[in-house]
Amino acid sequence: MRKNIVAGNWKMNNDLAETQELIGDLKLQLVKEPTAEVYVAPSFVNLYNTFQSLKGTAIKVAAQNMHFAENGAYTGEVSGKMLQSVGVQTVILGHSERRALFNETDEMLSKKVNAALMHEMKVIFCFGEELKDRKSEGHFEVVKSQLENGIFHIDRAAWKNVILAYEPVWAIGTGETASPEQAQEMHEFIRGLVSDKFGEEIAEDVSILYGGSVKPDNAREIFAKADVDGGLIGGASLKAIDFLTIVNSFD
Ligand code: 13P
Repeated sequence: MRKNIVAGNWKMNNDLAETQELIGDLKLQLVKEPTAEVYVAPSFVNLYNTFQSLKGTAIKVAAQNMHFAENGAYTGEVSGKMLQSVGVQTVILGHSERRALFNETDEMLSKKVNAALMHEMKVIFCFGEELKDRKSEGHFEVVKSQLENGIFHIDRAAWKNVILAYEPVWAIGTGETASPEQAQEMHEFIRGLVSDKFGEEIAEDVSILYGGSVKPDNAREIFAKADVDGGLIGGASLKAIDFLTIVNSFD
């Protein structure tokens, strides 16, 4: 059975004090055991203190990126081995901001996926079309190619450590969400692709998250769709009450 998952991507927000404040609020307001698996992804510099502060709670910590190499002359980069050494077992890869602003290609991403999986880390693999793709009705093709070139090379056994996150770029930070029907249509398509290549069992087990302007007031109807197994949350994850409302939006 696949899990419901909600992950908060804090992006480049929150310094040390703000991070501690948000974690404090999350701990105070996390009154009941969530029915979903919950992650937060702070910036690299705040990973260790976040991990320490959330120990013993139901909230897990993810990184927003990592390099594919183990170590070496890659100024400014962080490896999977380093992440694990500070307690981080999960990494977001392929976010559209990394693809668009930092020129991450499918080829680089496939190497990062390999490195993370080699370390037995969990990967939250992001992909999604731009507005122009949707307008030209090329969105299914774009998503298919991002999956085929970024992650469909992995072994069947590695899928237990993969979470997929469909994030249409036009819905990120814009206040415009995909409708629940648009999300479901794409998620069903994605699960079909996984099934065609890796078989129905793996396809049924993989959690597929939706990301893009998920808020407390729209999460429930999006998560209610059969192939939507939760969300990757940006803006609304920066406020504890909003994030936890979203975490508790499964029927
Ligand atoms: P918003 O929820 O702010 O639209 O961001 C979504 C996102 O990019 C999560 O990774």
